[in-house]
Amino acid sequence: MENNTFQRPRGFYDILPADIPVWRYLEKKIRTVVERYGYREIRLPHLEKTELFARSIGSSTDIVEKEMFTIDQGKDEQSLSLRPEFTAPFARCVHENHLLEKKPFWKCYYLGPAFRYEKPQKGRLRQFHQMGVEVVGSDDPLLDVETIQLSMNIIEELGLSGLTLKVNTLGCPDCRPSYRESVRSYLDPKRHQLCENCQDRLDRNIFRVLDCDREPCQELVQEAPKIDEHLCERCEQHWDQVLLGLNEFSIDYVRDSRLGRGLDYYTKTIFEVIDPKLGAQNQVGGGGRYNRLLEEVGDHDAPAFGFAMGLERLILSLKERGLDEKNTESQHPDLFLVWIDRDCQQTLFSLAGDLREEGISVELNFEDRSVKGQMRAADHSNAPYVGILGPDEQEQEQLTIKHMESGEEERVHWKNIVNKLSDVS
Ligand code: HAM
Repeated sequence: MENNTFQRPRGFYDILPADIPVWRYLEKKIRTVVERYGYREIRLPHLEKTELFARSIGSSTDIVEKEMFTIDQGKDEQSLSLRPEFTAPFARCVHENHLLEKKPFWKCYYLGPAFRYEKPQKGRLRQFHQMGVEVVGSDDPLLDVETIQLSMNIIEELGLSGLTLKVNTLGCPDCRPSYRESVRSYLDPKRHQLCENCQDRLDRNIFRVLDCDREPCQELVQEAPKIDEHLCERCEQHWDQVLLGLNEFSIDYVRDSRLGRGLDYYTKTIFEVIDPKLGAQNQVGGGGRYNRLLEEVGDHDAPAFGFAMGLERLILSLKERGLDEKNTESQHPDLFLVWIDRDCQQTLFSLAGDLREEGISVELNFEDRSVKGQMRAADHSNAPYVGILGPDEQEQEQLTIKHMESGEEERVHWKNIVNKLSDVS
């Protein structure tokens, strides 16, 4: 028989009602913590011009080279891509809305889906969700410290322990030429041991070789020169201040001088948060300073810093530690209404309306089932109370209210239902 049902595209997932409590828990915690740090929400489009990502993330990065969902509309329209991340759209938005002319310093956060055409596996999806923060208008190293602290604060507030914070610096365009030359002299003689992609990257964007995820390349770059000896004076000072701040404010970190980021826009400080319990896709979050990006996609410069975390990965981290169900309440109506005959259902329909106006969440049975069947449905709904209406109760304008946990039943006048429910709950 021909299979006539549709399946979701590979790497895309449905988030079912039973999954929602953990999502809400996570989103609520995140909002609370980031707002405590003075961030305000921003909402950006899902689609942007492809050129924006090419220019910001970098045309020779994996994301731009092979992971974007791109829509080419035809010769009159510019190519568009589903956002693989939010930082480039944020930079575009700052310019387009002249935000820095309104005030010179902005802290914004976002929550929403992003799209990357990657090979799906545990923790790696084609549609995933990020929470992220972006702050624009300051090059103060203490801001790097505060933003890193915020990322670890989120982890802490979620009750996650055992995660590692890795930090590094990438220097600025002034430090890069001598570093690039030093990496080139190291890698050039080993060109043929690199993967095909990296052989090409060696000429186009040598730093991307440093964060290639293929094994032969990873092994080779282990011994590659480090940025430290090539930092310009300003970058060195900035980096010292960042480390000083991390130490002073007791933020545990590991200095990983091999740490890179798969996106070209970073300058100076970068960091990643790793959950060793997650297996291959163990990077829960990452970010850093991007002082050149705004100029790259607009007409003026402004220093900026930010990071993003993958919500699916945070949920995996919660699940690994049994913190998903412990912290989330199941969603259920306050009251489930069961009727004996259709006339009673009509009455309950109107009663449900009145109760909802009073702020009570009410579910009414719509299925053609016996009272026993309706009681089963009530049980499945997890409502703490069930209200039963038969002709007798109807006549006396009463409802039999059953407290599901104790099994106690009581007849209550319609006018007193709200009181009864708030009494016992
Ligand atoms: P990113 O490291 O590419 O950085 O992504 C941030 C987080 O998104 C990752 O740590 C991971 O948790 C999650 N993530 C990425 N790709 C996937 C995927 N295919 N499936 C599931 N989760 C994924 C950025 O996106 C930068 N925009 C961060 C940033 C903000 N830098 C400065 N400001």
